[in-house]
Amino acid sequence: MLIKRPADIEPSEITPRALFEDRRRFVLKAGLGAIAGAALWHGLPRAAQAAPVKLSPLTPSPLSTTEAQTPYKALTTYNNFYEFGTGKEDPALNAGKMQTRPWTVKVEGLAGKPRTFDIDDLLRLAPLEERIYRLRCVEAWSMVVPWVGFPLASLLKQVDPLGSAKYVEFVTHYDPQIMTRRRILDWPYTEGLRLDEAMHPLTLLAVGLYGEVLPNQNGAPLRLVVPWKYGFKSAKAIVAIRLRETPPATAWNTSAPQEYGFYSNVNPEVDHPRWSQATERRIGDLRKRPTMMFNGYADQVASLYQGMDLRKDY
Ligand code: MTE
Repeated sequence: MLIKRPADIEPSEITPRALFEDRRRFVLKAGLGAIAGAALWHGLPRAAQAAPVKLSPLTPSPLSTTEAQTPYKALTTYNNFYEFGTGKEDPALNAGKMQTRPWTVKVEGLAGKPRTFDIDDLLRLAPLEERIYRLRCVEAWSMVVPWVGFPLASLLKQVDPLGSAKYVEFVTHYDPQIMTRRRILDWPYTEGLRLDEAMHPLTLLAVGLYGEVLPNQNGAPLRLVVPWKYGFKSAKAIVAIRLRETPPATAWNTSAPQEYGFYSNVNPEVDHPRWSQATERRIGDLRKRPTMMFNGYADQVASLYQGMDLRKDY
């Protein structure tokens, strides 16, 4: 990956959170109670749906960290979204061209009930949580993000994964009219998880951050978040989720297999071939801090990898 380290971000570039407190808030329209919402989420026809959706109120999650959150401005102006350019500031400048409505997400492949979801149905019907997660990028910077989303598992359960499904592939939007035509990576950007990783309660599909709908540069309208893996697993602008028997090709693993493995678990003991992964810098803080195994989520996820050699399966 092209590297611009956190030291390149001047503290003055980072706007305090208070400046964003007056941001637009989405309010759940009265009348859509939690029970009705849950029932609709489980599959009533579209015509039966009630009110339009908003991103509030949000249920706080016990899985959230209480660490200081990275300011909104830093999260939304220092991005990787290579379809819109390789500079960290490029996605904020260019991703506004992407139309995120209408938008559908196919959940298909080895499923008893494959289904295409309209993004507004997901926003309306999925019980939305706020999950504050650490995210560690492979480039040795990290951040703390108040995501809004719902567990990927709750979406996958809607389509009844077959017993033969062992992996999940994520396919993202690619439109050469508004995105780069340079073959920086194989487009569309793809990612993958093992099914048990995908079903893990920490694995989130994000639709917002800081209580708001996701900005385009952060992966609107739907983006994966896997907090114990390097940030590049977080596929942005997802259009299809496929259940598969075999591991899917992933964009970074295809482009540089010696540098980016399928698992991509945060691991301070396994260096990237070109730099150490032992420490990291949080955006806006020039101090180095030690990187934690599985990004600090080892208690919850280490058992998924029991018996594996994480130097080989990096
Ligand atoms: N998704 C798409 N479609 N295209 C990309 O280039 N970059 C990945 C990931 N998801 C990327 C993507 C990388 S390398 C990182 S570190 C994270 O998005 C960055 O997410 P952020 O910009 O919200 O911090």
